[in-house]
Amino acid sequence: MKGNFPEGFLWGGAIAANQCEGGFDQGGRGLANMDVVPAGKNRFKYMFGEEQDLTFREHEYYPVLKGIDFYHRYKEDIALFAQMGFKVLRLSISWSRIFPRGDEEIPNEEGLAFYDDVFKELKKYDIEPLVTISHYDFPLYLVEKYNGFASYEMIEAYKKYVSALIARYKGKVKYWLTFNEINDVMYLPYISAGARIDPGQNEMAQKYKIAHNILTASAWGVKIIHEADPESLVGNMIANGCWYPYTCSPKDVMAAIQKNRDAYFFGDVQARGKYPSYAKKQMEALQIPTWEEDIKIISENTVDFLSFSYYGSHVVSADEKLNERLKNDKLATLTNPYLGEVLYKRQDDPEGLRITLNEWYDRYQKPLFIVENGTGTDDQYVPGQLIEDDRHIDYYRQHIEQMKKAVLEDGVELLGYTTWGCIDLLSASSNTMSKRYGFIYVDLNDKGEGTFERVPKKSFYWYQKVIESNGERLNG
Ligand code: BG6
Repeated sequence: MKGNFPEGFLWGGAIAANQCEGGFDQGGRGLANMDVVPAGKNRFKYMFGEEQDLTFREHEYYPVLKGIDFYHRYKEDIALFAQMGFKVLRLSISWSRIFPRGDEEIPNEEGLAFYDDVFKELKKYDIEPLVTISHYDFPLYLVEKYNGFASYEMIEAYKKYVSALIARYKGKVKYWLTFNEINDVMYLPYISAGARIDPGQNEMAQKYKIAHNILTASAWGVKIIHEADPESLVGNMIANGCWYPYTCSPKDVMAAIQKNRDAYFFGDVQARGKYPSYAKKQMEALQIPTWEEDIKIISENTVDFLSFSYYGSHVVSADEKLNERLKNDKLATLTNPYLGEVLYKRQDDPEGLRITLNEWYDRYQKPLFIVENGTGTDDQYVPGQLIEDDRHIDYYRQHIEQMKKAVLEDGVELLGYTTWGCIDLLSASSNTMSKRYGFIYVDLNDKGEGTFERVPKKSFYWYQKVIESNGERLNG
């Protein structure tokens, strides 16, 4: 293929405060929704918003409390990212570091100062921060008081939080994302909106209400940032990955259209400024209130770019029997016979990334940003030996090749690419360390034992060459 990625293409990696910072009781931070979610099988009822009791329990282990200790080790980690040549680091801010309970009038100075230091360190190496304002992260106090974004009051708390961030970091942060994987609210309302589902009420009605509140908050975020700093660019963030029909039966094709709406619904509201017709119909039927002012804010404050995570594609059928196991499990997919083995409920599909990029660019005609892509592996570390994580290298190589085709052959406008978990961190779905995405190994196991030592893997040196050659050198 002729040519290369455009100059200034933002190569880098992505992390999130709740999965890496730790330091839950440092610098005046308050408790957050993910702090109280245990590791292990009990975790899922929290994620789905089914667990009502959010108190700590003696026999459970809570890995988020210490994360990978990025709070104390960020300088070392950023130096390693710089060594790989990162142009951008996607990171998130812990809301409860800035407003420990969420209802204070004045932000916590120590929390603000911590991110000042992080941004200063990034600047030292010319690494651009890409900041997710809320990545599965809500002050626990607001979660308990309002049931997160199930309540309209949460929008005011978010507005105050965004205002504090832009007042402090104007000129230091150019790229912002309002919420991580905002469309997850329909599946995982607790982790993505701090909301629990009342089993006595209509579940879909509750989820649409949460969706409306969080989409309104997102539009307010765009407005507040644009007004305070017209130079900044604000994006949304969607959990993506196209759904293919199981067969070419029109029924399966329609089922795939409906599944793809899980992501388009949110993309349409955030990028086009209006609810798609099928969502309006559904919301009317469920009697979801949408105030005129919300609709005005949504229509006037669309995002500058769209960002998404892409791990693989999915397959859906109209056959209810076949679909049975997809119900309520956002990661489950029917097996695609044209792709390889299913790992962690996913099948690798690099060409699906090109398809997704094309579909999204055709639809919205706004710049895109891939802000998560990767695969988890159980890398083992033997002191003195290089960790040969070839599976990571193969995965990234194949996806970058397809991304390159989308940019160079199809003309997709792509701002950058940040791999997920550029340093090993806690998995969001399992809360384990053994699902490792990183170019950098962290010596910590699933029980929280280890030295926290950071060790570059083979993929570290491979990615270094990719960035150095602006995507030309993919074979090491
Ligand atoms: C995305 C999230 O859904 O996928 C991340 O934005 C998450 O927070 C990532 O870590 C990978 O999923 P997992 O469950 O393997 O950590």
